[in-house]
Amino acid sequence: MDPIRNPFAPGAGSPPPELAGRSAVRRDVEIRLQRLRINRPTKSVILVGLRGVGKTVLLDQMRRDAEAGGIQTVRIEAPENRSLPALLAPSLRLALLHLSKKEAAKDYAIRGLRALAGFASKLKITYSDIEVGMDYDPEPGLADNGDLEGDLSMLLQQIGAAAKAAGTALVIFIDELQYVLEPQMAALISALHRCSQEQLPITVLGAGLPQLRARMGDAKSYAERLFDFPEIGPLSASDATEAIVRPINNEGIDIQPQAVQLIIDKTQGYPYFLQEWGKHTWNLAQDSPIQTSDVSNASDESIAALDESFFRVRFDRLTPAEKKYLRAMADLGPGPHRSGDISEQLGRKVSSLGPTRASLLGKGMIWSPTHGDTAFTVPLFDEFMKRIMPGDNWKTAIT
Ligand SMILES: Nc1ncnc2c1ncn2[C@@H]1O[C@H](COP(=O)(O)OP(=O)(O)OP(=O)(O)O)[C@@H](O)[C@H]1O
Ligand SMILES: [Mg+2]
Repeated sequence: MDPIRNPFAPGAGSPPPELAGRSAVRRDVEIRLQRLRINRPTKSVILVGLRGVGKTVLLDQMRRDAEAGGIQTVRIEAPENRSLPALLAPSLRLALLHLSKKEAAKDYAIRGLRALAGFASKLKITYSDIEVGMDYDPEPGLADNGDLEGDLSMLLQQIGAAAKAAGTALVIFIDELQYVLEPQMAALISALHRCSQEQLPITVLGAGLPQLRARMGDAKSYAERLFDFPEIGPLSASDATEAIVRPINNEGIDIQPQAVQLIIDKTQGYPYFLQEWGKHTWNLAQDSPIQTSDVSNASDESIAALDESFFRVRFDRLTPAEKKYLRAMADLGPGPHRSGDISEQLGRKVSSLGPTRASLLGKGMIWSPTHGDTAFTVPLFDEFMKRIMPGDNWKTAIT
């Protein structure tokens, strides 16, 4: 088929041609945010799921849905090694400047900008990465204590009051939320808790890896009173079918049901893999309808493309010791695995592997579904590890 017309879009955060299987959770979130706006009790949500299941594109779609419903939004992504206040400050400034254009909210928004000035100047001592424009002078005593928990709470309350006066809600969309360090996470949850007690229409809608749920609960035990944690996973067979068939049909091309079934088998319904198989199958197919042989022919290329991008970017960030740990896990199968089994595989003591395991958790490569269990956060990573470190040599490699 014409590669120029290829509708599929493999890539981190690339909007798919068909956002399949997510309408229920989208609708649910729209209802929650509209309730927030009119001061009805509601919880926000944190989307949790493995790598490549479509959290980012769903979060972005929810943001567009919210904006279309008259809700004000800002979006940030929490990378490793940046502080949360540094990420929040510039986006909150934009939100406040926007709110200050509404007559009814103007005074509140200006006070919010004063709070932001106090917040940024005092916290810069602790979080030197804060860079934000100051539009107004700080007001002494307003969010300028120099402690994140109290200052963030006061700042968000000011912004919430401005949003309320403007008749809207402010929703802060945060992707990769698992990278926020625990004390900063605790401060954020506590600030949002305060706003919810004050019935202010401001919240966070987040996405991240599955460990987030436990991490947020550890940071503040009442996190589950503020948030639900819907799991975003692989698509069901019928949703995966939609994800493949619709974009193809929209181009005036057909695909045989058996060919679709083979794509679903190969990808296990994981959205990133569906896009990759869709893309290569389309490029290789000569005629409509697309057949199973086209899918089979495209499999090597699809796997090679994933190895070069989706899997590779993760692998390249690992130290030799971390690679060896993950390779040992892969030897045991898809997982989850007991820490004891992994260390046995490596001929080491569990305790001596603690630091490696901790750094893999920190990098978001593994997570712990239940205590003592370790699982990959990247679907099908076990098979990739065996492809990239074949044979038995890894066992003897010195790390
Ligand atoms: N519902 C869906 N239907 C079809 N394709 C989808 C769907 N959701 C996501 N995709 C596709 O899957 C790929 C991965 O999406 P996305 O980057 O949002 O995943 P993610 O969960 O944020 O991954 P990561 O944890 O690596 O950030 C993209 O190519 C996107 O187009
Ligand atoms: Mg993402």
